[in-house]
Amino acid sequence: MKKILIAHNSQSGNSKKLAEEFAENYKDIFEVDVKPIEGINEQDIATIHGLILATRIEAFGADRKMRAFLERIDTYREEPIPKIGVFYTHSMKWKKFFKKGMDKTMGKLNIFKNNYPELLEVRVKGMKGSIIDGQEEKISNFIKNLKSYIEN
Ligand SMILES: Cc1cc2nc3c(=O)[nH]c(=O)nc-3n(C[C@H](O)[C@H](O)[C@H](O)COP(=O)(O)O)c2cc1C
Repeated sequence: MKKILIAHNSQSGNSKKLAEEFAENYKDIFEVDVKPIEGINEQDIATIHGLILATRIEAFGADRKMRAFLERIDTYREEPIPKIGVFYTHSMKWKKFFKKGMDKTMGKLNIFKNNYPELLEVRVKGMKGSIIDGQEEKISNFIKNLKSYIEN
């Protein structure tokens, strides 16, 4: 089975909860791990086929620790990771610029060449969540579409 890693830096649980939903849906065809970014080592990155970045928005952009994590793991392998997916959780109305910094960081790194182009942003209540109802369909469509991107 191909290995998939879902990395998060969840502080209040929203991106972790979604990461686990992805894992639940992927475990029939992939070997899936959900891990906090600080626990991810060179070995984890060296052998994966897919990486999903469960990213929290903080101060109008992708969490800085997630971006620093991307820079750290770029040195962990020579070849680009075959399949990359990203999703975001946030509390304010979504603004395109929230993902600008993340795109910039990924754009300059060698291992992020095969990014799934679709965007999933999931809105939460208040500054800490929980996930606002009514987004289930877009979440499950994204999970399904990303799965087939990673598989093929
Ligand atoms: C200190 C702080 C700053 C935040 N800044 C923003 C922000 O600028 N825009 C936004 O939409 N949400 C913001 N949020 C909300 C988080 O993005 C949201 O709660 C997210 O789901 C957190 O993910 P987590 O539960 O996985 O930690 C902020 C939350 C905190 C605690």
